Amino acid sequence: MGIKNESILIMDFGGQYSQLIARRVRECNVYCELKSYKMTADEIKKAGYKGIIFTGGPNSTYDENAPKCDPKVFELGIPVLGICYGAQLMAQTLGGKVKSSDVKEYGKTEIEVNPSSLLFHAAKPNNVCWMSHTDFIAEVPHGFKITAISADCPVVAMEDIKRNLYAMQFHPEVQHTNEGMLYLKNFLYNACCCTAEWQMSSFVTDTIRDLKDKIGDKKVLCALSGGVDSSVAALLVHKAVGKQLTCIFVDHGLLRKDEGDQVESVFKQQFDMNLIRVNAKDRFLSKLVGVSDPERKRKIIGEEFIRVFEEESQKLGKIEYLCQGTIYPDVVESGVGESAVIKSHHNVGGLPEDVGFEGIIEPLRDLFKDEVRRAGLELGIPEFLVWRQPFPGPGLAIRIMGDITEEKLALLKDADAIMREEFAANGLDRQVNQYFAVLTGIKSVGVMGDGRTYDNTIALRAVTTSDFMTADWARVPYDVLEKISNRMINEVPNVNRVVYDITSKPPATIEWE
Ligand code: XMP
Repeated sequence: MGIKNESILIMDFGGQYSQLIARRVRECNVYCELKSYKMTADEIKKAGYKGIIFTGGPNSTYDENAPKCDPKVFELGIPVLGICYGAQLMAQTLGGKVKSSDVKEYGKTEIEVNPSSLLFHAAKPNNVCWMSHTDFIAEVPHGFKITAISADCPVVAMEDIKRNLYAMQFHPEVQHTNEGMLYLKNFLYNACCCTAEWQMSSFVTDTIRDLKDKIGDKKVLCALSGGVDSSVAALLVHKAVGKQLTCIFVDHGLLRKDEGDQVESVFKQQFDMNLIRVNAKDRFLSKLVGVSDPERKRKIIGEEFIRVFEEESQKLGKIEYLCQGTIYPDVVESGVGESAVIKSHHNVGGLPEDVGFEGIIEPLRDLFKDEVRRAGLELGIPEFLVWRQPFPGPGLAIRIMGDITEEKLALLKDADAIMREEFAANGLDRQVNQYFAVLTGIKSVGVMGDGRTYDNTIALRAVTTSDFMTADWARVPYDVLEKISNRMINEVPNVNRVVYDITSKPPATIEWE
């Protein structure tokens, strides 16, 4: 028995919150999959879903090219919950009326719900939700009851308990909807009769068992970067087949202070893994001599990484499988859902497809990032690795403006370590999503003691973001900034000025290069 006996289908109509809906369902300990709205009723029936959620979407149901579901979906007897556009589509398809309003209802809205309905069972009668719509349901289809209203919207929610169909105009998945999780749980547990079986502990046990079956006595290779995804993927395989897995950790010398040693010690000492660390710093630095252009730096590092990896793997003889840390958002973003996002960066660990393996092993293909972290904790990976902030493949090379030298690298490593220490000491390391120091390449005049200096400027970058596509600069307390600045000037030679970057993304990017 696997742990995916119960699965919910999220039908994506192109809404900006589609992935968030899926994450929320998983938070309710129910497995779900995000698929295109084009999936037919037959396909859905075959897949055996226990419930269906229609997402929002940017269209009006009256648009010529509005995405429509297979109308037979409503006849399957599987509970359906329509959200926003999905609610309107349900109303229109089943004979109700959807109208366009002159005023857009947007943002926090007060609603009145009926707590004796299924969806709002045990909910507060008056509450706040998050709306974002112009069209609204003006008339419910035959058999439906109105279960929530607002001052401007006659049908905020509706349900037909006999056919197990539910709809809400607002977004239960966003934080601003106070009791959104309760409404979702009511749908999942009471309408779909799901039992909250999706737990990371069972995911780990089941995955290890499945990997054992799949791999048998064959060999597996993994490129370990020390990032959370590749670490968790590798450890799952290691728990399944032990020394049949070999990990190659290419240390390009552009990692943060002590990071290479920490990664090696966790996987070699704590987990007794077959880990080959390739110390290739000189090789990378010699290729980078005199190179200032950011894209050239990225390209050189990416190509060199593949070369080193190939050379090392060839020494190991025949290996059947390659293990990769692909996670669910990568799968969705490569075109499974409707809200395809164009990825702006190729990870430097990305290997060419044709590297002569029989197959690829991707144990995290179904997991969101927060689930990967929970699986990592289940497996006993230390917290500093599980909560590691994202780190770009080209490493510190794109945080040193201009060309890269040993001296500049050493200076930036020391400065960055101080920033990380102070963020951790002040509890900012979990609140701020990414933070680091940049060697700006600017020299400026200062005065230290009685002497004039002409030295380096360090910039501090710290951002809050949920998806790294947009970001805001973090409001770091002044006293923390002050401490970091003082320490950098006093402890890092050749630094005489520290500045704080207060640009959001867009217009800036998170990294400086
Ligand atoms: P930007 O700078 O574009 O970065 O706002 C967004 C996120 O991506 C990371 N990043 C990279 N990751 N290879 C990577 O694997 C790269 O070349 C790369 N460049 C940026 C960046 O750290 C941030 O989290």
